[in-house]
Amino acid sequence: MKQQDIGIDLGTSSIIIATQAQGVIFTQPSIGAVDTRTNTVIAVGEQALRMVGRVPSYIDIIRPLKDGIIQDHRMTNELIIRYMSEVCPSRLVKPRVAVCVPAAITGVEADAVVEAVMSAGARSVYLIDEPVAAALGAGVDTATPRGCMVIDIGGGSTDIAVISMGGRVQAASLPVAGNAFDNAIAQWVQERYDLSVGPLTAEALKKQVACCTRSEFEGVMEVRGHSWQTDLPARQLVYTRDLYAPVQELAAQIAAAAHGVLEATPPELAADVAETGVLLTGGGSMLRGLAAYLAGELKVNVSLAPDPINCVARGTAASLTLGKELSAGFKDATPKGWRGTFAGSTQDFI
Ligand SMILES: Nc1ncnc2c1ncn2[C@@H]1O[C@H](COP(=O)(O)OP(=O)(O)OP(=O)(O)O)[C@@H](O)[C@H]1O
Ligand SMILES: [Mg+2]
Repeated sequence: MKQQDIGIDLGTSSIIIATQAQGVIFTQPSIGAVDTRTNTVIAVGEQALRMVGRVPSYIDIIRPLKDGIIQDHRMTNELIIRYMSEVCPSRLVKPRVAVCVPAAITGVEADAVVEAVMSAGARSVYLIDEPVAAALGAGVDTATPRGCMVIDIGGGSTDIAVISMGGRVQAASLPVAGNAFDNAIAQWVQERYDLSVGPLTAEALKKQVACCTRSEFEGVMEVRGHSWQTDLPARQLVYTRDLYAPVQELAAQIAAAAHGVLEATPPELAADVAETGVLLTGGGSMLRGLAAYLAGELKVNVSLAPDPINCVARGTAASLTLGKELSAGFKDATPKGWRGTFAGSTQDFI
């Protein structure tokens, strides 16, 4: 039996695993819970997410990736090992694994990811740039000498790149993405209504009510939180129009960074982008009205890729067959003479 090769999108919000034949086969939030009394991981993924805001003081909820960088190596490795062993349970047939790592990852962090993937039973491991993976997953033929601009808006970072012949020609990354929108919404509701809301409520407001462009949509949601003035639970109706200011401020930062990338792009490639437009990928790009807002600011056509949240994982899986056609955006990171053994779940966290 041949183990299918897999692509892993190691994202700030979720870890998504795909194969080229089946597409996305696994998605879990990038989060874990540790019992600090025993230093053991007691839950990961959905199970840990359900604990957010509801745990006693001796349980730490850890989001190991933040703003596009790895903040907690041990939990990152724990998630990689646990999730991979769910997808590839066989210890005999080992898959080739491509991993899309955050843009701002350091060499040491990349080595730690490679080691975790090898420990989890990979035969070989490859690293791919997020914008290149995003473009591949969106169906762009990245190998041609034709410029294509991708803006991948995830949870922790927005990665902007003009790609040609399988590599990025011009790029920028900024820590303004889905989480920053959630924080801005929570802060705004706090200031405007004296209501402190949790991160999951702020995210629900973003997905269900917020919109970047005026008059495109009008929604409302009742939110519950905590009033600082009365020190009691309280509820409040929040309308789309209430949220224009905080979301537009962040959308403007993304537009400015994209503008900078376009300005620095060589004229031939910039002309290609003007003709073909800009592609949005990543879960954060699904914010209502964002594509229209960016199109207005950049004066080019901006379109949302199909199934934007899974583009990176699908492109990462595809990179395993296209590897040779990709340039610096893809590299074989398999350690020479790897002698590690399958680690399984580490259970004991320290
Ligand atoms: N319908 C939606 N509207 C707005 N935002 C959404 C929607 N669905 C998901 N999101 C946001 O998408 C973000 C997660 O996107 P994604 O899974 O692409 O991030 P990631 O790859 O984990 O992060 P990163 O690439 O920064 O490491 C979250 O902030 C989530 O709130
Ligand atoms: Mg991502």
